[in-house]
Amino acid sequence: MKHIILITGAGKGIGRAIALEFAKAAKYNPDFKPVLVLSSRTRSDLDALARECQAEGAETDIITADLSKIDEVLQLADHIINRYGTIDCLVNNAGVGRFKPLEELTEEDFDVTMNTNLKGTFFLTQALFASMQKRGSGHIFFITSVAAEKAFETSSIYSMSKFGQRGLVEALRLHARKCNVRITDVMPGAVVTPMWGEVSDEMQAVMMRPEDIATPVVQAYFQPARTTVEEIVLRPTGGDL
Ligand SMILES: NC(=O)c1ccc[n+]([C@@H]2O[C@H](COP(=O)([O-])OP(=O)(O)OC[C@H]3O[C@@H](n4cnc5c(N)ncnc54)[C@H](OP(=O)(O)O)[C@@H]3O)[C@@H](O)[C@H]2O)c1
Repeated sequence: MKHIILITGAGKGIGRAIALEFAKAAKYNPDFKPVLVLSSRTRSDLDALARECQAEGAETDIITADLSKIDEVLQLADHIINRYGTIDCLVNNAGVGRFKPLEELTEEDFDVTMNTNLKGTFFLTQALFASMQKRGSGHIFFITSVAAEKAFETSSIYSMSKFGQRGLVEALRLHARKCNVRITDVMPGAVVTPMWGEVSDEMQAVMMRPEDIATPVVQAYFQPARTTVEEIVLRPTGGDL
């Protein structure tokens, strides 16, 4: 059966690993035919990922969009509905983090973070949830963070955005439970991805890898429709960095 799965921020890091994990599931499950709609701003990342997913037997579709821009968010949602008529799974993964001491954070840091992590995530979800609600099925993942419920000294704006995403998760759940739509809040701690920039070997040795997040996400998707994995919290074994 075809499953239309949109992954935002698919070009790098955690989103990329989730796309590959869904693609690998196609290889080992003949009944699962994923159509992976891969989105981010950088076309070359998505082209390379699409080739890897296709090699695993998944169908792919690429759409570049800047989720901090409302017109591009709505175009992405329209593309899905016009082309497929519906959506089975939305992975709200695209996100940015500006990590600096409190006094160094700027208005630009604030706007970029909020427009991407909150505004873009909200309006994409609003547009696509409507289709799931109408059909009475679907699954939405939010890749929030442990910073959605715990503050870190250099992450005040990031944490504000992630606490905000958690507010959306909780509000949406109230609607989703009434129409058989599953909502999963994925809260990872430190994962080695481009978001961190340069990371020392010492730190890398204790951080998680993107695939450590992708595996439980895909497992949650494959739970029977009657069962929702509501939260997935994953931390480096040694605790937060
Ligand atoms: N890494 C961690 O330790 C960690 C921990 C907890 C939670 N998270 C969360 O996990 C998610 C993924 O993080 P990551 O570490 O994988 O980050 P990453 O390696 O920086 O990848 C982020 C992805 O999002 C895309 N993106 C960024 N801004 C965008 C925009 N305005 N519009 C569309 N796409 C955009 C990027 O592609 P383009 O730049 O090409 O658009 C990229 O593909 C984020 O929400 C992050 O907050 C990460």
